[in-house]
Amino acid sequence: MPAAIVARSLTKRYRDQLAVDAIDLEVREGECFGFLGPNGAGKSTTMKMVYGFSPVTSGVLEVLGLDVRTRAREVKAQTGVCPQEDNLDPDFTVRRNLEVYARYFGVAAAEARPRADELLAFVALQEKADAPVMSLSGGMKRRLVLARALLNRPKLLILDEPTTGLDPQARHVLWDKVRDLRRRGTTILLTTHYMDEAAQLCDRLVIMDKAKILVCGSPAELIAEHARPSVVEVWQPPDALVTWVRARNLPCELVSERLFIYPESGDTLQREILGRFQVDQLIARRGTLEDVFLRLTGRDLRD
Ligand SMILES: Nc1ncnc2c1ncn2[C@@H]1O[C@H](COP(=O)(O)OP(=O)(O)OP(=O)(O)O)[C@@H](O)[C@H]1O
Ligand SMILES: [Mg+2]
Repeated sequence: MPAAIVARSLTKRYRDQLAVDAIDLEVREGECFGFLGPNGAGKSTTMKMVYGFSPVTSGVLEVLGLDVRTRAREVKAQTGVCPQEDNLDPDFTVRRNLEVYARYFGVAAAEARPRADELLAFVALQEKADAPVMSLSGGMKRRLVLARALLNRPKLLILDEPTTGLDPQARHVLWDKVRDLRRRGTTILLTTHYMDEAAQLCDRLVIMDKAKILVCGSPAELIAEHARPSVVEVWQPPDALVTWVRARNLPCELVSERLFIYPESGDTLQREILGRFQVDQLIARRGTLEDVFLRLTGRDLRD
């Protein structure tokens, strides 16, 4: 599979701030590739370099076979972007936002209107075509930004937190669209703070922290490698239970009022605990991408 993006020792420095620190990356053509990481990890900065918005400080960055440092215009022509912050034009209607943007990409006026309408239908906003952007809800704006990102029929689509703040219905609609685009061969870069979203949509992903990539792999690989297979969580565990778990040398963590235990078999441990202790809330579950994330990046809040 040819590479859609190749980064070698890619670095971005903002004055005294190292935002991306010598990362290596290879995104395959046609895959949905995720970026996870705490606030300030460097995800958006990496995306901005990929779509030619933020100059590379040092290192190699090839996008769609082109060196971004010298061929940014060609890269932009084949890339669609949903930036983290909505930057729609509030003075225009929904359709007009798309038409104006289409012109930036050199889409002929006669073609801009039908293409805008086709994309409004794609994101289920056709009924809002003549509404001012200001009157849209947050979720509708996100969908409009997605439609806008597709105006140039991009080979590479960059989605920086496309579903932040959306209700579950709108998230599912957006996920369906992303899957649809991926099926049609679009390469997708996605950042998200929703671990379930990454696990569902991404073929592979990286977890970044403090400007570096910590790990790269498919969700299943990362879970197998970095999470424990089963987890038993107990809320407000009685002291006797904590003592019992520790005496048995079971790997565990006590985080605020929750005890996380990592046994060989969650079902067996669950039965044992329920037979011996009075606990109000207990769940036994499989390891998840969220466990991987918290294990690798810690539980502390970022600045
Ligand atoms: N234009 C800028 N000027 C100076 N520093 C910046 C600029 N943009 C980002 N930074 C800094 O670079 C670092 C990485 O920021 P970035 O926006 O890439 O993080 P992120 O992983 O996207 O975080 P979030 O999850 O909050 O969106 C942060 O320390 C941020 O403060
Ligand atoms: Mg960001």
